[in-house]
Amino acid sequence: MSGAIQSGMEKPAALPFNLDGRVVFVAGGGSAGPGWSIGRASCITYARMGAKVCVVDRDAASADETTALIESEGGLAHTFVGDVSVDADVVRLFAQARERFGEIDVLHHNVGIGKVGGPMETSAEEFDHVHNVNVRSLLLSTQQVLPAMIERGRGSIIAISSVAGMRYVGYPHLAYSVTKAAVAHFIRMLAQQYAVNNIRANTVVPGLIDTPRIENTVAKMFSTASLADAKAARAQQVPMGRMGTAWEVAHACGFLASDAASYITGTELLVDGGITGKFSTL
Ligand SMILES: NC(=O)c1ccc[n+]([C@@H]2O[C@H](COP(=O)([O-])OP(=O)(O)OC[C@H]3O[C@@H](n4cnc5c(N)ncnc54)[C@H](O)[C@@H]3O)[C@@H](O)[C@H]2O)c1
Repeated sequence: MSGAIQSGMEKPAALPFNLDGRVVFVAGGGSAGPGWSIGRASCITYARMGAKVCVVDRDAASADETTALIESEGGLAHTFVGDVSVDADVVRLFAQARERFGEIDVLHHNVGIGKVGGPMETSAEEFDHVHNVNVRSLLLSTQQVLPAMIERGRGSIIAISSVAGMRYVGYPHLAYSVTKAAVAHFIRMLAQQYAVNNIRANTVVPGLIDTPRIENTVAKMFSTASLADAKAARAQQVPMGRMGTAWEVAHACGFLASDAASYITGTELLVDGGITGKFSTL
């Protein structure tokens, strides 16, 4: 794949829905628990599309599981362990990734943490921590990939926000929501500044997704007895009547990473079963 922009007069030789030979760096490629997180499903999707995948996570065992799953399908991946909110770790992780696979073609910023509560339940320290992991880490990673992307005249940066960054989702989740809004605006700014360099930056906005992580938090949000009831209540909020899967988010990321999205930059792709357009989410 050349990465060259079509002139508009030529017929593409093949469908560009692939990442053949591309290097993808997924910050947060593990999972909060057993099963399919968005980062894990995305890593596998990128590998299935032909990419070499840098599976980056602070949780070594979880990242290794993702890498092993890719290798079991004959894909190419490697685990890199570190905290992407720590400056020295970020420098080391990108150096190791480049040494292993070469320059990064696609940065997928997947890490995200939250702290349930509004302003009176969130200390300044907690707010700073959520900001450091959700937003500052995006700055650090972007600084690592931009120089080579500019030099090569191509690149794709994808960040994962949330419907919570666009709407009140029914309970106070202030630090999470505010930082997820910041992620989307960071990407909009990046897209404008570097469009001229053929570097695309887009945000994927998942709605209510059924990943292992929600099991730690969702039950607390509903006054129902069991996790199953809480999940059912969450599903009922969605116009499509169900939560999304990690794969449904991952496939949107795969599209945006590939040359199939070569004229798409600065956008927010909602993967939400219609919930953002609903009059009320309650
Ligand atoms: N699950 C949902 O319903 C949902 C909805 C909207 C948005 N999102 C967003 O999607 C993304 C993935 O969500 P998920 O449910 O798959 O979560 P997850 O917690 O399973 O995956 C996140 C991964 O990032 C890693 N991580 C966290 N902080 C890190 C750090 N500082 N350095 C390195 N690794 C770190 C974790 O160890 C974990 O493996 C998050 O940004 C989340 O906010 C999720």
